[in-house]
Amino acid sequence: MSRNFRLRPLTESDDHGQEKSNLIDRRDFLRYSFNTAAGVITMASLGSIGFASLLMGQASADGGDSAVRFWVPTGAEDTVWYGDSHLQPMSYDAFVQASANSNTGMAGAQGVWSGMPVNVIYVPDNENKGSGLASNKPRFQYLEGYSDGGKYVGSGFEVTEKPEYSSLSIHDNLIIVFSRCPHLCCIPGWQLVTNDYTNDSWEAGGTESGGNKLFCICHSSRFDPTAIEKNSMGRGTPFDYIGIKKVGGPAPNGMPLVPFVLNGDMIEALPDFVDWYAYCS
Ligand code: FES
Repeated sequence: MSRNFRLRPLTESDDHGQEKSNLIDRRDFLRYSFNTAAGVITMASLGSIGFASLLMGQASADGGDSAVRFWVPTGAEDTVWYGDSHLQPMSYDAFVQASANSNTGMAGAQGVWSGMPVNVIYVPDNENKGSGLASNKPRFQYLEGYSDGGKYVGSGFEVTEKPEYSSLSIHDNLIIVFSRCPHLCCIPGWQLVTNDYTNDSWEAGGTESGGNKLFCICHSSRFDPTAIEKNSMGRGTPFDYIGIKKVGGPAPNGMPLVPFVLNGDMIEALPDFVDWYAYCS
């Protein structure tokens, strides 16, 4: 079924008859994503695969345009749990199996969706949310969001309360994060380096405490993938978004969520908020 998506917020005049000019259809969105992908990959130095190869993978492999695929950085083939799955579509079961080998029950992976870098993180929320807060018992937390200047922006609970965010509602113990650092646009990773922020541990509160943070190797910004908040982008043209919280480092705020569905066992992302992913373009 064909769907149209807003590339950027409508202006007042758009609401009076010119809406069509600000909408992109699914094909346009994918082209837009691919056009930005070469820069993404070059900046991140995530691997040696050429952009053309990535496009071929998108076009010919199974999983379709919506599939989220593993991205294995060059040199990490023997160290990450998904090391033999480069550009393979992500299955939900792969994350469930990986989580069984973790102290915390969490599992994360680098990914690519429509040419854009993402992180996919499994959190045993359903198992832990009914019990008291405890170390290494992670669950999703809905927090109040404040801009870099200290202005209150909103609550992470809006994903459960506001119809416009309904596709972002947390489900199936999984989230997808658009992975461009709001500092200078590097790509934060899941346990691709070894330090206190990336060890397999968890503490509540969306603070510096505990590991399993998304870590940006460029200037050491840290993001808690279990801390869901509403915030305002501090880079580029300001806009509010739902995302994960920055808990340390020079980034002005956290990173936006990407909505998804499970198609059987396959993880497929939805382009409902493409205007949130252009701040590094
Ligand atoms: S680009 Fe991420 S901390 Fe600077």
